[in-house]
Amino acid sequence: MTSQLNKDNLPEHIAIIMDGNGRWAKAKNRPRLFGHNAGMKTLKKIVRASSDAGIKIITMYAFSTENWKRSPEEVDGLMNIAVEYFHKEVGELHENNVKINVIGNLNGLGKKVREAAVKAMDTTAANTGLVLNIALNYGGRDEIIHAVKALMAEGISPEAVTEQHISDHLYTKGQPDPDLLIRTGGESRLSNFMLWQMAYSEFMFTDIYWPDFEVDVYYKMIENYQNRNRRYGSAE
Ligand code: IPE
Ligand code: IPE
Ligand code: MG
Repeated sequence: MTSQLNKDNLPEHIAIIMDGNGRWAKAKNRPRLFGHNAGMKTLKKIVRASSDAGIKIITMYAFSTENWKRSPEEVDGLMNIAVEYFHKEVGELHENNVKINVIGNLNGLGKKVREAAVKAMDTTAANTGLVLNIALNYGGRDEIIHAVKALMAEGISPEAVTEQHISDHLYTKGQPDPDLLIRTGGESRLSNFMLWQMAYSEFMFTDIYWPDFEVDVYYKMIENYQNRNRRYGSAE
């Protein structure tokens, strides 16, 4: 589908909490991993649609620092899906000039998925199209701690610390904050996603489970975003 969106006021950066895979599968009497596999297809579709629409950056929440609480089977299955995604999709993403950027604590991941992530990033490093941030073993609080530690290690004096310093030490350094946050799956919470960066993001929630999320709904949400009035604390 080619985007009919007005190009003037597009969100530069969209962040998405891809939620509802498990409940989608449960409703079909299938295992949770069936839902995660279906979710990967939606991810591919939405990445393509974002590129088509001329979005500059998307950040997709794939696995949180809290998702380790799930069963070993589910965690393993999710990691395998991530490896598969990196192996199978990088070719096409690269052809489409997409730059992959995995954000999160990569050192806390297994070797296989870490190596696949690093390879995907290396392969696409020079690309100039859509930036695809994949949040894997990502936690907003973990990211802020990581930034604070880095600043302290640099020996910065407490009085000198500014917002810019923190922003520059996050996994998203150099990127604008998300303009729009979308969460599928019916929950209205952040679940530790981009806590610092979401200070002035516009939020949109839908009950649709991630595997059922469609491009036309996505574009409607972007249109809805384009009609919002972002004030940043000012009076008008
Ligand atoms: C989102 O779907 C994917 C991940 C968190 C990895 P869920 O697995 O959270 O699905 P629900 O919320 O249980 O339906
Ligand atoms: C958030 O979803 C994490 C991802 C989508 C990767 P969760 O399903 O883990 O969030 P909670 O547990 O409902 O808050
Ligand atoms: Mg969930």
